[in-house]
Amino acid sequence: MALDTAAKYRDRFPIFGSVAYLNSCSQGALSHEVRSAFNHYLDGMDERGSLWEEWVGRQEDVRVLIAKIFSTTPDQVAITTSASAGVSSLMSAIDFTKGKNKIVTTGLEFPTIGQISHAQELRGAEIVHIPAEADNQLDIAKVAAAIDDKTILVAVTHVCYRNGSMTDIKAIVDLAHSRGVPVLVDAYQSAGAIPINFEELGADFLVGGVLKYMLSCPGVGFMLVNKKNVMKAIPTMTGWFAARDIFAMDIMKYDPAIDARRFESGTPPIPSLYAAKAGLGLLLEVGLDNAWAHTKVLHNQMREGIISLGGKCATPAGAGFHAAMLAVKVTDEHAMVAAVAQDKVVISSRDSNIRISPHFYNNSEDIERLLASIAKNKHLLA
Ligand SMILES: Cc1ncc(COP(=O)(O)O)c(C=O)c1O
Repeated sequence: MALDTAAKYRDRFPIFGSVAYLNSCSQGALSHEVRSAFNHYLDGMDERGSLWEEWVGRQEDVRVLIAKIFSTTPDQVAITTSASAGVSSLMSAIDFTKGKNKIVTTGLEFPTIGQISHAQELRGAEIVHIPAEADNQLDIAKVAAAIDDKTILVAVTHVCYRNGSMTDIKAIVDLAHSRGVPVLVDAYQSAGAIPINFEELGADFLVGGVLKYMLSCPGVGFMLVNKKNVMKAIPTMTGWFAARDIFAMDIMKYDPAIDARRFESGTPPIPSLYAAKAGLGLLLEVGLDNAWAHTKVLHNQMREGIISLGGKCATPAGAGFHAAMLAVKVTDEHAMVAAVAQDKVVISSRDSNIRISPHFYNNSEDIERLLASIAKNKHLLA
């Protein structure tokens, strides 16, 4: 029974003692495990001072856990301080002056891809955005039509942070590759919520972070890099933790690592790595398949409830078109978020939508509480 997942894990997250927390698209709920990991870091500082060996080991533990989550190998995982840091490092490795300068991206992007792509205009790039259709889905044929012999990268988000629409990444990868163009995926809103197999997806680069459905905290992002691209990309935005031998401390040359680590930078975010190890460990214990099987049921319960209240969903329906988040159209998103907060239900908003984002720790009662609160504030539904 899918809903047993919440019963099994919910008491590890103290917030459920007082609140129906349905905002994992912003920040995952804090578990006992993650809190103790932060304490463990601080206790070590009190007891033993600087713990470089343990710290560097912690970074490698997190690399292994992220590799497991995406069914890939640790040498294809760069640990960064944000998704933006990975994207910037990748962009710094691209030369836009040799005939190919076009980045094909979409209207569904978070600023991480949108703004960093446009920053490359200063270095010769041309950016083309394919807008989403009226139903918030991307028309893959329009993406295909935009990829030409000047295209150097396709950069696309998996699940849109504003409306929850999910794009068929495999279809985009296949068509971009058929024209020899690599694909960068922003998976921040799908990572940890649904199972993703990096090898099967076939993307060249995939960025995300551990803050949301990956149950951890700010400060740790990652970029998965398909092996075949590593040696072709030489980042100029770099740091000593990206060196082939970190402890060579050679200031006379630049010798980047021969695996995904070459996209890293300086001193890692150590306290966040302690938390990430605990959060990712818990996520793997739950299992991505179990988490998604569970959340899918709640997503459908929410969708049916909203429709029966006369509301409209911004998130497309049906398998393959959404992940955990359900975005609902409202007339005043801030008023609706504040109104349900009065009933101790936590959600968030973007544009003219409220975003409701369950995870494996939520149960049907959370959804009923949310729907009852929205029913009281029905006048705010668009
Ligand atoms: C889809 C998506 N990409 C990127 C980010 C932010 O990434 P970072 O701040 O790690 O660069 C977010 C955060 O909300 C997001 O939802």
